[in-house]
Parts: sequence; structure tokens; C-alpha cells
Amino acid sequence: MQILKTIEELQDIRKNINSNVGFIPTMGALHDGHISLIKKARLENEIVVVSIFVNPTQFLLGEDLNTYPRKDEADKKICELCKVDYLFMPEISTMYSEEEILIKAPNKSYILEGLARPGHFDGVLQVVLKLFGIVQPTNAYFGKKDAQQLSLITQMVKNLFLPINIIPCEIVRENDGLAMSSRNVYLNNEQRSDALLLSKSLYLAASLVAKNEKNTSILTNKISEMMKNLNVEYIAIVDREFNEIETIELDNTIILIVVRFEQTRLLDNIWI
Ligand code: PAF
Repeated sequence: MQILKTIEELQDIRKNINSNVGFIPTMGALHDGHISLIKKARLENEIVVVSIFVNPTQFLLGEDLNTYPRKDEADKKICELCKVDYLFMPEISTMYSEEEILIKAPNKSYILEGLARPGHFDGVLQVVLKLFGIVQPTNAYFGKKDAQQLSLITQMVKNLFLPINIIPCEIVRENDGLAMSSRNVYLNNEQRSDALLLSKSLYLAASLVAKNEKNTSILTNKISEMMKNLNVEYIAIVDREFNEIETIELDNTIILIVVRFEQTRLLDNIWI
């Protein structure tokens, strides 16, 4: 595996690659969720590129940019073991100049996650577009856990006619059901155990849908009943374009939950 710090190095290498390139953009602190994306990319592409870059433009003032978990050495080992070909780890000054062309995410970026974090998705799209420009991947892999991010990146690729396949990947969970996230390390024992209610309530909703309950208000009430002792930020049932829906549409519905544990926001969802 080669570790690259500059855009020139990566572009020089990219010029000579004529086969499929699979790309996994990350902010590091790699866990089994990322590893599953890398493994999928490894199976489906001749060349695999991973980037690690804690992108400042997607953090709001007062968010955890400075304390975001950074585990460069462990991450390098994981990438090596997963047989990544190129690991791109740029500095902030490499990725951003003083004056930038800004990306404006569409209106649906200001609901749900975007309502809680206004401007967050502008920063995500900006950095992902830059990374796509540098890596020029054939296939780019994103987890379904960040469902709204996945939807916006898919739309960006479509709207800007980028010749890149966006590959959605399944959520990876701990044995007890907690969705993997780099921010899980912030939870204390009590919060960690309360956090299990997120996946449990999503599974309950899915089982009710399997029994033919299609009314989204009823499903939302069942979930909120189960979460009544937690600080729920939102429960939303949307179609894959992120429009709120009244009736479950099979193969086109996502149920999303966000719960706040002090400063830590935990997201989970299930695709129905
Ligand atoms: O999902 C993430 O880790 C980040 O939002 C991404 C896509 C790497 C952009 O910084």
C-alpha cells in the first residue's frame, strides 16, 4: 500500500490506471463499517483507494472537529490488512485554498440532519466533489447509515453528470445491534446500553410493517413510545428521495431515528 499526501502524487498515479478504481472516502477512525465498504470495493475493483480527511467544512461551529477521533496509525494498519492500494491522507491546506467555489446542497439538505446541522451537507458535497475530482473513481462506496448524505451525493453525481457509480452499502452493526459509528466511543456504559433502543425500535417497526402495518403515524408512535425515556431529536419516515410519507412504500422507504446523548448524536435507520 502506498500512502499519498499530495494531490500531484495521486494524480500522477491515476493517469496510468486504466482499470476500475473503487473509492472509499472516510474521516478515519476506521471501524467494521468502513472495513465492509473497503472489502466490497476490493472484490469489485482492480484498484482500491481510501481517503482519510477530517473535513472542516462539514463541521458547524461548536461541533466536535477538534475532538473528532483520530487514529492514523491504526487506520493505516487496517487499510494495509484490507489490501488497499492507495491511502490518501491530505492536509487541510492541500484540500482548501483561501477562496473557494462553494457548493450549495439542494433544499432537502435542510431537513432532518440538515435542520440540526445547517450547512453540514454543503461541506460534505464540497469535499466529496473535490475527492471525486482527484481520485476519479469508477465506483464510490457509501454506507446507508448516513442515508441523507448518500441520497445527496447520488443526486450530486446525477446533476453534475459525473461518470461515477455510487454504491450504497449495508449498515454494519455490533453483535447487540448498535450501528457502528466513529462517535460510539463518546458513549458511557449507561448511554451505550440505552443506545440499543435505536435498533430495537427500528426492528419493531420493520416487524410491524411485515405484519402489514403501513400507516407511518402509527409506526412513528410505536417507535417514540419505545424511546420515551431518551432525548429523541427526530423520528422520520421518508421515501428514498427524502419526502415524508404517510403510507409505507415497500422497497422505497427509510425509517430514520436520531437520539442525542449529551453532546453525541446517534443516527440509525432501516430501509424497508
Ligand atoms: O461520511 C463521512 O465520513 C464523511 O461525511 C465523508 C463522506 C468522508 C466526507 O467527509
